[in-house]
Amino acid sequence: METLAKRVVFVALLVQAALLPMLSMAADADPIQDFCVADASNTLTINGLVCKTAADVKVNDFLFRGLDKPGNTNGPTANAVTPVAAAQLPGLNTLGISLARLDFAKGGINVPHIHPRATEVLALLQGELYVGFVSTTNNTLFATTLYAGDVFVFPRGLVHFQLNVGKGAAVAIAALSSQNPGVQQVAPALFAANPPINDEVLEKAFNLNQKQVQHIKASFTTRA
Ligand SMILES: *[C@@H]1O[C@H](CO)[C@@H](O)[C@H](O)[C@H]1NC(C)=O
Repeated sequence: METLAKRVVFVALLVQAALLPMLSMAADADPIQDFCVADASNTLTINGLVCKTAADVKVNDFLFRGLDKPGNTNGPTANAVTPVAAAQLPGLNTLGISLARLDFAKGGINVPHIHPRATEVLALLQGELYVGFVSTTNNTLFATTLYAGDVFVFPRGLVHFQLNVGKGAAVAIAALSSQNPGVQQVAPALFAANPPINDEVLEKAFNLNQKQVQHIKASFTTRA
């Protein structure tokens, strides 16, 4: 009996080991060629972007210039995100990685949002940012203040934010584990959905009355 039990454990471990690589593939699909430079002229929709003919690929397909320039932080949230994803840098297509520059004027905020397809690792180059994410276990907040040179990771799919708490501007570079991370801001997704979400849904989700829900909804239409 003891050997049978041992065998069962052994087989269970084998199955687990075989499944592990599959579980860790919860990210962009692996490339099956050296590169697949996105062909912007092709409107065909696939899981990614259609590849340019290899003979037409040039070095500039792998180049993006201008990330030294700050984004425009004059909007109501006083922040700017400059993405360098497959849409901006065609050579990133199928490679499972992208970059963004984040600028914050004083008091600027990158409001709570998720990237459905990417983990984000952020390096703060200048300023002070209060950053954090909320885990799905007990809605635990993991938050701290970053200073120049600090690096923080936001795990894939979790709600996170960055707020400039410094005396001046803040600048960060973020790397993301998808050629197309996607972004969904939590508050506008619910209060500025198009067409609008029924008030009753939001009243019950946020313990608000209808007047309060309509007030928040209206604040988003005037903000945009
Ligand atoms: C989540 O909350 C429950 C109930 O308070 C607690 O028993 C559990 O340890 C918490 N889990 C974590 C990961 O903090």
